[in-house]
This record gives sequence, structure tokens and C-alpha cells, in this order.
Amino acid sequence: MRLFLFVLTSVLSGTSVALDNGLMRTPPMGWLAWERFRCDIDCDNDPKNCISEKLFTDMADRLAEDGWRELGYVYVNIDDCWSSMERDQQGRLQADPKRFPMGIHNLSHYMHARGLKLGIYGDMGSHTCGGYPGTPLDKIELDAQTFADWEVDMFKYDGCYSNASEQEKGYPLMSKALNATGRPIGYSCSWPAYQGGLPPKVNYTQLGEICNLWRNYGDIQDSWGSVLSIVDWFFDNQDVLAPAAGPGRWNDPDMLIVGDFGLSLDQSQTQMSLWAIMAAPLFMSNDLRTISADARRILQNKALIGINQDPLGIQGRRIVKEKSGIEVFFRPLQNNGSALVFFSRRSDMPYRYQTSLKKLNYITGSYELFNAFTYRTMQVKDATDFVVSVNPSGVVTFLVSAPAKINRRQFYSGGKLQGPAFEDAEENSLPPVFL
Ligand code: GLA
Repeated sequence: MRLFLFVLTSVLSGTSVALDNGLMRTPPMGWLAWERFRCDIDCDNDPKNCISEKLFTDMADRLAEDGWRELGYVYVNIDDCWSSMERDQQGRLQADPKRFPMGIHNLSHYMHARGLKLGIYGDMGSHTCGGYPGTPLDKIELDAQTFADWEVDMFKYDGCYSNASEQEKGYPLMSKALNATGRPIGYSCSWPAYQGGLPPKVNYTQLGEICNLWRNYGDIQDSWGSVLSIVDWFFDNQDVLAPAAGPGRWNDPDMLIVGDFGLSLDQSQTQMSLWAIMAAPLFMSNDLRTISADARRILQNKALIGINQDPLGIQGRRIVKEKSGIEVFFRPLQNNGSALVFFSRRSDMPYRYQTSLKKLNYITGSYELFNAFTYRTMQVKDATDFVVSVNPSGVVTFLVSAPAKINRRQFYSGGKLQGPAFEDAEENSLPPVFL
């Protein structure tokens, strides 16, 4: 019942209006340059890694040829440091001619020819965070039109060098300007991140009406500490943040750094699992040309992507915080399914955590647990105790089926126990299940 009420309230609170461009009904997925490649503009000495069209066509090739696109990773997003230091003679932004000789319009054609989309970056202030020309209030319409002319598909509007009152005007104005171009352009707003991410300074109802996604918090860095601080902030503030999310409007805890240098394998599984629970945009910032097989397997995990992309678009929550350092996260999914993540903050050894679905507020019934990393399935009744072994800074992640109509416990009992009578059977006599 508690689970039912939770789902019901989550669904009802998800009914407010979203930005009316029909885009991003599930969290956007793709690749974004910033965390891994920053503002490296030294193409003479570092041609493979500098911010140039070659970097973006290389990543597009990998997305198209290495199985990413089919899984939903379709955005190839330029971040800061792409433009020339000067606007052109008509006052329009222009790409740096040396690093983007074919120009942004041709780059978007390159993406579209491969079934991909192009994203670009701008900033509300006089300058971008990296010191490139900004898009202040009086340039909003012109720049929105330029991006539409270039057939760009997504725009991230950063907030460096702008103040609160400019942001209050500028973010809604850009939303209108993008819509007015007639081209569907996904709109990512950094506004809340510049206002502390919380009400009363941040109005999530309004954000949902003008933006498709928004950065709430600081920038991710290539370290576990950074991932953990983001996880802590998002789940400590889940009561404010979760109701803001829904189809077409997403909280953005920032890029996936799986495949970079800062995370162990377990921590990589943790980032991917918790980003799935959070219904977070999945923008990888890594080098797809050299990514390890292990990192690729995590990022291409269909169960995790399926959780992330669930059409109900309900952002999940932390439901248990144990003194032992184990935390449990839950997200309701379509068809009465759900996802569960068991996460360990410990730093000693794998921790054997014993629980049951009943203890996690599931209603009476039989369920199937599918382990997203081992691919093993197990049938449990709500009151069946099971044990998960959670590695330090790692997770155990389950897709949980809807309570089955046919009682699956016959699997354990040779089919002798069946039907409603079984509902009353003594659950504790069952051995714990190890997954
Ligand atoms: C800010 C943003 C980052 C990135 C940089 C670029 O810090 O939050 O995501 O876009 O600017 O300079």
C-alpha cells in the first residue's frame, strides 16, 4: 500500500506542464565534451584532444559505429570554447575558423547524416565561463536564430558573468526565442545551479515550463569524491527535486565520467545505477575512441538504460539509510515494475545486507529480481529475506517485476504450494536467497 501511495503521489505530482517543444520525453542521452576535454584549444600540440570539429566527428563516428546510437546515445554536444573571440560582421556568433573549418552548420549535417544530433553551448553573461563571447539579453533572439539556422538540436545556456535579475529575464526569454525559431531545440538551463539549486530562489515549476533539463548543482570532476558529493546533494534534497522531474523536464546531476580516470569499476557501476534511478540525462564525457571494454559494458548496459529511460519519467528516491553505511534507492517503473539499488558507503569489505521487499515497502506478492550486472534472476515473495553482497563504494542493482498473479514460490517448493493459500504461509521458514 505504501508503495502504491508513493507511486500515485509521484504520478500526480508529475502532471504539471513541461516545455511545450515535445522533446526529451525521456532523459536525453549522448556525449558532451566538457568534463573530459575542457577548454583544450591547443590543436597544434594536442590535435587529438583539442576542441575542434575533428573531436566531434570522431565521437560521432564512434557513437554511430560502436553500438551507442542504437541504445539512445544520439546527442553530440559541443561545450565551451568552440567560438571565435569575435562575432561576425552581422553580429552573429561564429565558430573558431581554425578549429572548426567546416563550420557548425556542416557539423550538424554530419551528425544528422548518421542519425545523431548536435548540441551547442552559450552563456547568459558578457562571456562564457571560459571567456568566449556570451549571449547577453540583447543577443538572445539573434543567437537562437543562428543556432536554428545551423540546424542545431540542443542548446545549453550557462550562467557565468550574469546576475540573478538577468537570469530571471534571460532564461525564459531564450526559451521563447528557441521556440519562435520553429526548430525543435532541446533546452538545457544552468540557471538553478547559479542560484543554489533550492527554493525559494529556484522555482522548479517554472523551470519545468521553460527548460527540458537543468543543472541544479556544481560541476562534476573526474573523481569519486565529486560523484559522491553530487549524489549526496541530490538525494538529500530529493523531496524538492524529484517532483520537478517528468517527461520533457529533467534534473541534471551532470555528466557521466565512466570511462575516464577517477572511478573504479564498482564506482562506475554506482554512477550509472544512481543516474538511472535519478532519471538523469546520460551525457558521457569520456574518450569513446579509447574507452575500455569494462566501461563500455557499464554504459551500454540495457537494463540500466531501460531504467533511466522508463517512459513514466518518475525520478527515484533514497528510501533507506542504514547506520551500517548501506543505502537503498527505489524508482517506480512502467507496468508496476521498479528498480532497486543497494549502495555501500563502507570502505572495508563487501557487506552482506539482509532485507526483504516487504521491508522495502513492497506490497504482498511474488516478484522477480533481475540483477542488472550479473544478469541472474531470482523469484522472491515480498516477505522472503534475501542477502545482497555490496562492495565498498559499489552497488547491487535490480530490476523488479510487478507482483506476479501466479505465485512463483512453487519454484522453491516443487509446485506443492499454490495460489492464495500460500499467501498465508510462514515466510521466515524460507532460506535467505543470495543474489
Ligand atoms: C560551467 C559549466 C560547465 C561547463 C563550463 C564551461 O562551469 O557548469 O558544465 O560548461 O562552465 O566553461
